[in-house]
Amino acid sequence: MTNETVLLAGVIGQPIVQSKSPILHGHWLKRYGINGHYIPMDVSSVNLPHVLNNLPKMGFRGVNITLPHKESVLDIADVISDRAALIGAANTLTFQSDGKLHADNTDGIGFISNLKQEAPGWDPKAGPALVLGAGGASRAIVAALLHEKVPEIILTNRTRARADALKAHFGGKIKVVDWTQAANHLDEATTLVNTTALGMTGKEDLKFNLDGLTPKTLVSDIVYSPLITPLLASAQERGCFTVDGLGMLLHQAVPGFERWFGRAPEVDAELRRAVLA
Ligand code: ATR
Repeated sequence: MTNETVLLAGVIGQPIVQSKSPILHGHWLKRYGINGHYIPMDVSSVNLPHVLNNLPKMGFRGVNITLPHKESVLDIADVISDRAALIGAANTLTFQSDGKLHADNTDGIGFISNLKQEAPGWDPKAGPALVLGAGGASRAIVAALLHEKVPEIILTNRTRARADALKAHFGGKIKVVDWTQAANHLDEATTLVNTTALGMTGKEDLKFNLDGLTPKTLVSDIVYSPLITPLLASAQERGCFTVDGLGMLLHQAVPGFERWFGRAPEVDAELRRAVLA
């Protein structure tokens, strides 16, 4: 018997069974021989403050937060990172040694880290990014693209008012175009991102005329089931470099793992295989 501390972290959402986070953190814990556990927790909105208050007393270092708590958790946090405040949502909480609850959002850097790893030649500054969708995922990606100094974001959403609201929040570098007109802007973009769930198995397909797409555009999707979405398949046929959505999920988990378990984990083919198995 040793007195070695068991490191604890987890993920909170409702429902939580679909979360891939326990698989990927579990894979890293095993790979690096860390004495720790990562536990999925199904928690209602009513119980969230109570649970977050008690987890540090039980030895938890932190938790990931997923739907439906990503926005409301900011009301409970003591310290909010600049990017979580800007995005208006958090996915990574750390129980600090001073007793404070720190909230961060790593979705956007997960998206950028994935593109940088999978497409080393990608230059966000090379030209405008065409972003499809204006929901929660879009907010994180738009914030991250702006942080990477993309010269312009051409933003489109089925419900235009939501795209206008996002522009009002983030400011000048965003040009909003109608959903029905967005295909006309494909030739301007050097980056195209689908931030909606369209194209996911069991959902509607993204009905978007890609005739204007040329090989200079890097095309990425946040959907990872299927890995090659109809959007990515069509882009590949047109000679575009494509990046699937699985890597964003993996990379967004890196900062939390490092903070809670003390080691910067690798995102590689072995991890991808483990999460897809
Ligand atoms: P998330 O947090 O995952 O981004 P969300 O906030 O519900 O989820 O946003 C979903 C995005 O998918 C929105 O951009 C939504 O467009 P609306 O604002 O018009 O609802 C988009 N979306 C969902 N279903 C769609 C569809 N059938 N056609 C076009 N866009 C759709």
